[in-house]
Amino acid sequence: MPEVIQISTNNQTYNINIGNLYGLNALSNSYSKILIVTNPHICALHINKILSCLDSKNIFICTIKDGEQYKNLSSIEYILENAFIHKLDRKSLIIAFGGGVISDMSGFAASIYQRGIDFISIPTTLLSQVDASVGGKTGVNNSFGKNLIGTFYQPKAVYIDTDFLDTLPKREFSAGISEIIKIAVCFDRDFFDWLENVNLVDSKKDLQYAICRSVALKADIVSKDEKENSIRAGLNYGHTFGHIIELLGNYSLYLHGESVGMGMCKANNLAVLLGMLECKDSIRISNLLKKYHIPTEYKISDLDDFYHRLFLDKKSQNSNLRFVIPNGIGDMKIITNPPKELLFEAMSR
Ligand SMILES: NC(=O)c1ccc[n+]([C@@H]2O[C@H](COP(=O)([O-])OP(=O)(O)OC[C@H]3O[C@@H](n4cnc5c(N)ncnc54)[C@H](O)[C@@H]3O)[C@@H](O)[C@H]2O)c1
Ligand SMILES: [Zn+2]
Repeated sequence: MPEVIQISTNNQTYNINIGNLYGLNALSNSYSKILIVTNPHICALHINKILSCLDSKNIFICTIKDGEQYKNLSSIEYILENAFIHKLDRKSLIIAFGGGVISDMSGFAASIYQRGIDFISIPTTLLSQVDASVGGKTGVNNSFGKNLIGTFYQPKAVYIDTDFLDTLPKREFSAGISEIIKIAVCFDRDFFDWLENVNLVDSKKDLQYAICRSVALKADIVSKDEKENSIRAGLNYGHTFGHIIELLGNYSLYLHGESVGMGMCKANNLAVLLGMLECKDSIRISNLLKKYHIPTEYKISDLDDFYHRLFLDKKSQNSNLRFVIPNGIGDMKIITNPPKELLFEAMSR
């Protein structure tokens, strides 16, 4: 039996099942039709495992091109067209089967198709298992930035099967660890200490624990603050800088998790300059990232341009810049408008 973690938001409570796909068929059978959204790569590797779990005779598969550069409104239109072609109705289900790109887009499409139909997420990357599939943020990118279009829309359930990770490239695996480190730094010092003493590449048991702990922390945060009015903003640690790094690399030079790793280091520089993080703790965080070959340094070539891009971040309000920075390891603070010289100093390190 899988481990089950519950999320309760204003509108619904749902389970995140960690371990295997137990229960997926029973839940799916209550729907008239099922549209599985995936990409050709994941489909070729793993679709048979999903299909062999499902009894429904009304299953359709929609594959969208692989890559963050396709996380856009054209792909959403393509998913919706598939839903119309196969005549999905309001009792139909969308299953997101893939990494964070697939889960963000499938959730968004489900949230707007006929004003909203149910969706289930089956994440296949480490990053989507510990982060993207949990919490109901959906959306796409556009030329102005990352995830600037989207909705809050919770799935009916999430099924996390770590066996899918066996085919994940090493670099993608490491990018997922970046989000595990993120949540530990901001919310759980003991978890961070534990992470320093294990190797998630070598031990499936430790990996399973790290996934469970990350999901439990995120579930608790989302249950308290679904719409990101307070504590949930802490999960954006590393993302304010990271999203710009990702955009400047045209979403292809660095993976999301890698950009977040470098973004965390920029945020740490700011925290050190503001006296909220000891230099030795900043080094511990960098060392943990380095252990998994996650890049920790990023040279910003045009500081003024980077600075102006910060104002497009969803956390900035009324032209106020907001950053999540660690307040020691295991705690975080959201700060507004740090002194410009310190910010430039943090960015240039
Ligand atoms: N909604 C949220 O709360 C949230 C949180 C974190 C990240 N995100 C989003 O998630 C996205 C990043 O997700 P990602 O890192 O999963 O990237 P991704 O979805 O692009 O997947 C990474 C790559 O791995 C491949 N892949 C997936 N599963 C595989 C498997 N089992 N074996 C082999 N290859 C596999 C994919 O085809 C892809 O090429 C970003 O767009 C980010 O904005 C969203
Ligand atoms: Zn992220």
